[in-house]
Amino acid sequence: MSGYRQTYDQWRADPQAFWAQAAREISWIKAPERIFDPEAGVYGRWFPDARVNACYNAVDRHVEAGLGDLPAIYYDSPVTATKRTITYGALLDETAALAAVLQDLGVVAGDRVLIYMPMIPEAVVAMLACARIGAIHSVVFGGFAAKELATRIDDAEPKVILTASCGIEPGRIVEYKPLLDLAIGLSKAKTQSVVVFQRPQIAARINPERDHDWKTLVEAAKAAGKRAPCADLAATDPLYILYTSGTTGVPKGVVRDIGGYIVALKWTMSAIYDVKPGEAYWSASDIGWVVGHSYIVYAPLLHGCTTVLYEGKPIGTPDAGAFWRVIEEYKVRAFFTAPTAFRAVRKEDPQAALLAKYDISSMHTLFLAGERADPDTVEWAEKVLGVPVVDHWWQTETGWAIAANPVGLGLLPIKPGSPTVPMPGYAVEIVDEACHPVPVGQMGSIVVKLPLPPGCLPTLYRQDERMRESYLKEFPGYYKTADAGTIDADGYLTILGRTDDIINVAGHRLSTGGMEEVVASHPDVAECAVLGIKDDIKGEQPCGFIVLKAGVTRPAAEIEREVVKLVRDKIGPVAAFKVALVVARLPKTRSGKILRGTMKKIADHDSWATPATIEDPKVLDEIKEALEARAV
Ligand code: COA
Ligand code: AMP
Repeated sequence: MSGYRQTYDQWRADPQAFWAQAAREISWIKAPERIFDPEAGVYGRWFPDARVNACYNAVDRHVEAGLGDLPAIYYDSPVTATKRTITYGALLDETAALAAVLQDLGVVAGDRVLIYMPMIPEAVVAMLACARIGAIHSVVFGGFAAKELATRIDDAEPKVILTASCGIEPGRIVEYKPLLDLAIGLSKAKTQSVVVFQRPQIAARINPERDHDWKTLVEAAKAAGKRAPCADLAATDPLYILYTSGTTGVPKGVVRDIGGYIVALKWTMSAIYDVKPGEAYWSASDIGWVVGHSYIVYAPLLHGCTTVLYEGKPIGTPDAGAFWRVIEEYKVRAFFTAPTAFRAVRKEDPQAALLAKYDISSMHTLFLAGERADPDTVEWAEKVLGVPVVDHWWQTETGWAIAANPVGLGLLPIKPGSPTVPMPGYAVEIVDEACHPVPVGQMGSIVVKLPLPPGCLPTLYRQDERMRESYLKEFPGYYKTADAGTIDADGYLTILGRTDDIINVAGHRLSTGGMEEVVASHPDVAECAVLGIKDDIKGEQPCGFIVLKAGVTRPAAEIEREVVKLVRDKIGPVAAFKVALVVARLPKTRSGKILRGTMKKIADHDSWATPATIEDPKVLDEIKEALEARAV
């Protein structure tokens, strides 16, 4: 453990000196003199007196160092049969031109710009262009429905929205523009301008009063020699807002500040991922998620790596050898994805026979995150790939790993099922409800002693009180991760699941509370419960139990179909809500609480006992029968 232990102890002994040292890797406009201000913000602020620009650090500084010809992005899109290499020089040119376009549209530092785009290089350019001029970007994942998009528009109140005509899912084209038009119509916020990147697969309809053609504006800016310079920004200014599921239908706007984030991400590239500038790094996620923000866009570019931007799936585009092809083609050194992707590959190609066609010797490590990495999948991946498989645990809120196996500091022994040990910056403890530490090996709530390290959320967008209420109130002096787990005698963590109603479907974070709000809005539904139940590939899948209003005589199957469609229409296909079951009653305690835990055990085919507090034990049998009848 020596490399890790020494580094962690160094941090513990003097956190400010540790982060001051890490901050030396960043090009500051004004270097920090104060490292941390415990009085500022909700729980303190990092680098309160520094000035910096994230785009400068991710792009300009490499070009200034003579690396303009180095590939910044390998764009690989099996769904459109397109490949493109974008050098740092070209990335700078595109970014500075789009930033100038945004300025011409009236965007100034602090304005929000919403980005609703698929996995194309222009989406990365869009994020960097915002960072360049100090606009706060908010990327919304393409798999969300118009209503979810509208909620985010209302919260962020963007001056400009950047979009593309479509995304491509296997077998279908997802038209973004009609969804966006609907969302703008639903929202109360006034969006001044929409800039549309027209893809060859489909042309979006342009509303001449509000919409602009991306290419026309960028070409005009270039022709006029317009290039926006990097703005001089406070390290504590927000870089972006990323919405994530809360325990209700109203998402939380996680704020990321510039300075802390880029210091932390830069540190992780060597210490955790063990990659060097100039090497290829691939995170097979989506820019709509935190993994995409941190490890498709910012971290690899800050480190001067080449990031792979992959517009495809692990399987079906065209087969389960897609990962191996990309690794071979771009000589990827570190590969990062969600366990669900590996479960999908394994199901298609259990012997990994397709691997024989490719040379993946460039790959040194596979990193997994986003959901629990089950030991079976970890062991399979290790066996077929012959490289260390590193599980690491983090959240949208933290922006980088809370616990990991820091390969660059010296790989620690891997214990499948554990994301290994806390990273410097995180004093992780397991506590009981009264916030007392639990004995080693015992399960409890996982909390992090305040302050959180650089890179973690300073607050929720315009909602300091919700920040305190959601994360800081229950365990005073700590950040509540809302995950439960254990720490063993070697200091290894195990994450056992959420303590709230968040579920993880194919590595996507979703709120069952949010789904219940939608299901309950169906006119025939009296009450409902949505649970996350086990799924072999996606880890969990949502399952809705519905009680109909008295007097409803329409066929149950018809209402079930309507409810499934309603969730898809209101939340989006990403919710993967496919199972709704009409039942006569929901099992409840005598005080009226729905027995979700017992229902989940029944659905998961785990052993279960009738709770002593149940009002009517027969209801559990009814639930079991309903599940069996539908072979769930
Ligand atoms: N735009 C529009 N729709 C999208 C979308 C996007 N960007 N991404 C997904 N969807 C749709 C899918 O087409 C699917 O629709 P369907 O119900 O019509 O089939 C639905 O949302 C669910 O998608 P998904 O959960 O991705 O399931 P899948 O069956 O299409 O694929 C996996 C399963 C495992 C291959 C896929 O989930 C995967 O690659 N996961 C990787 C995990 C990941 O990237 N996690 C991010 C955090 S690290
Ligand atoms: P998200 O904010 O989408 O990144 O989701 C964060 C949640 O995903 C965490 O709170 C965990 O519940 C879960 N999660 C992420 N990574 C892991 C992991 N490596 N092991 C177990 N759970 C994980």
